Amino acid sequence: MPGRAVRAHVVAVASALPERRLTNAELERMVDTTDAWIVSRTGIRERRIVEPGQGLSTLAEPAARRCLEKAGVAAADLDGIIVATISGDYVMPATANLLQHRLGATRAWGYDLANACNGFVAALATAKAFIESGAAKRILVLGGDVMSSLVDYTDRNTCVLFGDGCGAVLVEAGAPGGDGGIDGCDLGSDGAGGNDLIIPCSGSAIPKSAQSLAAGQQFVKQNGRAVFTAAIRRMAEVCDTLLTKLGKTGADVDLLVPHQANMRIIEPTAERMGLPMSKVVVNIEYMANTTAGTIPLALADAEADGRLKNGSRVLLVAFGGGFTWGACYLTWGRAVR
Ligand code: ACO
Repeated sequence: MPGRAVRAHVVAVASALPERRLTNAELERMVDTTDAWIVSRTGIRERRIVEPGQGLSTLAEPAARRCLEKAGVAAADLDGIIVATISGDYVMPATANLLQHRLGATRAWGYDLANACNGFVAALATAKAFIESGAAKRILVLGGDVMSSLVDYTDRNTCVLFGDGCGAVLVEAGAPGGDGGIDGCDLGSDGAGGNDLIIPCSGSAIPKSAQSLAAGQQFVKQNGRAVFTAAIRRMAEVCDTLLTKLGKTGADVDLLVPHQANMRIIEPTAERMGLPMSKVVVNIEYMANTTAGTIPLALADAEADGRLKNGSRVLLVAFGGGFTWGACYLTWGRAVR
């Protein structure tokens, strides 16, 4: 009988956050909002914000270095770098290319992947495909955003929701026939929701002009209710679809690591799967929504508090602008044989 094909394993995680905390009390002085409104509607108390002029790479580089160190892997041994983000340092060059150079990842290709809040899950699914096809052995996957560069701090509908941060994981080929690794991923999209969460002046459709910038078109615009309703539906659905495809149930999940957009989205997702909140990683209170950063930041927190360890069975799930959504089920760590 042929042995099990090579699996992609997620073997290490690390993160980097800006020093500066932006609290709800500070936001109360900036827009017409209250700490009570923000906490009761979202679960967020504070978020981290970079200093003006600090691009994503100022967070991505330390996250990448820490991740490689934890994995015991040299940058020169990487085959590829994927940075999931909608707020890279530049549209061109890719932040992955800046990292490739700064880390000394001399053999690695690299590109950025833009899929909003689902970016990290999509990047992980991509890395899995490279590794299982035999095209790569080690890929550094980062997820992060500097949302403070895309948010209008005079718009109470959006500015309370977002923060900055970046996480990195190392994805590596396991031994042929080994246990564990990424069992499966499921991705979906519905472009009909495109206008419900959009940065109008961010590409070729509305070129930057004095007029578009004066109208604030470079900032996130959101129909919060529509996003909220679709997120609850799609996150629960994609978890169901993936677990069913893998012949598993909520009982096979040790840790659910959901995108951190709103406590009122996270809780029903867990409830639908029959999971107690003790099995759900939540850090939205202090990180807010860091878009592509939420899942690797939550993984890093869960590892630090001892909940994520070798052999943990983990379900990642995200939903974001596009609309786009996805889930990955994996056993954490290097293969046990
Ligand atoms: N402070 C006080 N009032 C506010 C604030 C605020 N910060 N923001 C909005 N409001 C007001 C609105 O103006 C509106 O007032 P109106 O009724 O007078 O027009 C009212 O609050 C809306 O209230 P609710 O309908 O009760 O708000 P809701 O329960 O929908 O919560 C929220 C709003 C938090 C935005 C919610 O809809 C949500 O979380 N949506 C999803 C957001 C999200 O996840 N976005 C990112 C997704 S992914 C990504 O890719 C980037």
